[in-house]
Amino acid sequence: MSFKNKSVLITGSSGFIGNAFFNRIIELSPSQIQLLDIQQPKHSQQVFVDKHDNIDFIQADIRDINEYSHRLKSIDVIIHFAAQPSVPISTDLPYFDFDVNVIGSMRMLEFARKNDIDEFVFAASGGTIYGETDSIPTDEFERLNPISNYGAAKAAFEMYLRSYASLYSMKTTSLRFGNIFGPGSTHGVMYDFYRKLKNNPDTLQILGDGNQKKSYLYIDDCIDGFILAASRSDSGFQEYNLSGVNSVSVTEIAELVSKYMGLSPRFEYTGGDRGWRGDVRFGAMDTNKIKQLGWKQRTSFEKGVSMYIQSLNM
Ligand SMILES: NC(=O)c1ccc[n+]([C@@H]2O[C@H](COP(=O)([O-])OP(=O)(O)OC[C@H]3O[C@@H](n4cnc5c(N)ncnc54)[C@H](O)[C@@H]3O)[C@@H](O)[C@H]2O)c1
Repeated sequence: MSFKNKSVLITGSSGFIGNAFFNRIIELSPSQIQLLDIQQPKHSQQVFVDKHDNIDFIQADIRDINEYSHRLKSIDVIIHFAAQPSVPISTDLPYFDFDVNVIGSMRMLEFARKNDIDEFVFAASGGTIYGETDSIPTDEFERLNPISNYGAAKAAFEMYLRSYASLYSMKTTSLRFGNIFGPGSTHGVMYDFYRKLKNNPDTLQILGDGNQKKSYLYIDDCIDGFILAASRSDSGFQEYNLSGVNSVSVTEIAELVSKYMGLSPRFEYTGGDRGWRGDVRFGAMDTNKIKQLGWKQRTSFEKGVSMYIQSLNM
């Protein structure tokens, strides 16, 4: 599928990745774009909505889709980003996480099935669904073994994408993201360090022992991979890891963020081997499968951090 002349519904469009996806897809000549988010659209999106008859925004909750689905225009593909995105929140409020990430996602998938929308693309989480594994880098054949409720919800919904593809001949795709960062992100470890250093340039508090190592991907490379996977020519269900080649420790990130802020703070560790309950300590993803579609990481980790910090300073 190419997005040309397709009618696309994007959930979670006001969020970090949803907005970046929107900015790219408008260049691919879809016939219609409908944006759906519980929060208001980004200012730049509102400008498009005001100017173009074929771009609409609906402020609503995915869990209530049955109440407003009659207001939506015909759709060819659903791009599903809307989520409760926090591991700590999923620990404190497990049913809330389940309600949004499983029930809400299921409502969107059922809406697709009932309305003959054949294509559904989902933002899963490779950083959490594999849990702690010795198989590093981890490929898509690895057993799903989440250690957080957030990861469990992502894994659970992904199973339905598999069964719906088989039962109802839908084309369903799951992108298992690593940690995505870049301009527009207001969560994650880099943003946290940036904010803390703005408040106190002399000392940086780091959660855990700083040795947690994970893989990261700059937002533009994430959107490249997402669009390639969504546009694949085969049918049925496919899952793809999508992340950076190398894993990076939290201390290394602290050093880079400090460097690009022009600071040399003292690092203070809270201790323990992980940042929060449910935090996966080591993770790195094998991305050979998505590379076979022609995907390539274009932005090095360090270059990505420098561009992100520069955007935060603007
Ligand atoms: N950012 C990452 O590093 C990362 C990593 C792995 C997976 N993901 C997944 O990618 C997707 C996008 O992540 P993001 O970083 O852009 O998160 P984000 O929090 O910036 O965006 C999520 C959006 O979903 C919306 N939303 C939440 N609940 C909703 C509901 N009930 N109904 C309608 N809209 C709702 C929010 O308002 C927000 O705009 C999420 O599914 C997330 O789990 C992100």
